[in-house]
Amino acid sequence: MGDAHIRTWRAGAVEHVELNRPDVRNALNDQTIAELTTWAEATAADRSVRVVVLGGAGKVFCAGADLTWFRAMAGYSPEENLRDARAGARMFHLLDSLPCAVIGRVHGAALGGGSGLASVCDIVVAADDAVFGFTEVKLGIIPAMIAPYSLAKIGRSAARELFLSGRRFTAQRALEIGLVHAVVPVADLDATVDRYVEELLSSGPEAIAEAKQLLRQIAHRPPEDVQDLMAESIAGRRASAEAQEGMRAFLEKRAPAWKATRDPQ
Ligand code: COA
Repeated sequence: MGDAHIRTWRAGAVEHVELNRPDVRNALNDQTIAELTTWAEATAADRSVRVVVLGGAGKVFCAGADLTWFRAMAGYSPEENLRDARAGARMFHLLDSLPCAVIGRVHGAALGGGSGLASVCDIVVAADDAVFGFTEVKLGIIPAMIAPYSLAKIGRSAARELFLSGRRFTAQRALEIGLVHAVVPVADLDATVDRYVEELLSSGPEAIAEAKQLLRQIAHRPPEDVQDLMAESIAGRRASAEAQEGMRAFLEKRAPAWKATRDPQ
């Protein structure tokens, strides 16, 4: 597709997806959201994908919502406006609930929905000169679609400061509040992402999917309320073929059969 807003490619078990509107700093409009939604649905169903790397083409990772598109909403009917908002909310939910591991590769800037995209990644590697921000209020809007995911990452205290001030902040601050996990010089970005990829390829794929699901299920619930869930979860998992193979491989001092690579299979 010549005018596609995202670009994807595979390297063995690793799926790369890149926002590809560099002229507008990868701002998210309805077409980008539709493409990411279709891609996320297909990826969620594709068991051969073990790790996703999400990045952006050009100077920055993502400048958030496409403000030209948002501005045009004044001419939409309330129903059309709500339909588009629901499509965006659904896209963030699909990305957040992908069963495979998702690594964000952030360079340049992650603003508004760009910081939202970072929030739905499991691991974020950022260039040390990248700028972050929940800048929506500076435009008179709010970070509604991304709020649940960003809140889960940075907590209410930082969210209150950053959602209300709309201030831009450094990658180092993003690291301190839990939005990113590694901050490196831009020249080391790909090598650092690759190290995480290697670690994830040697983790059990069903275990990753279940760990992600469990985290969503137990978030904000007291331990006493999730005793059964935790017991059922480990009981099912340790008896599974994947776990049996993983433990047998450890005891036999070899790699498990499900260890994946980036090489084409
Ligand atoms: N929506 C629509 N267009 C955007 C955009 C957005 N979110 N962000 C950038 N653009 C456009 C600019 O209007 C400009 O268009 P032009 O070439 O027609 O003038 C082009 O992208 C390049 O932007 P520019 O600001 O010149 O690039 P930069 O590399 O100097 O800075 C950013 C990049 C991301 C730091 C800066 O563009 C920015 O702050 N964008 C707004 C981010 C924001 O507040 N997003 C929240 C949305 S809710």
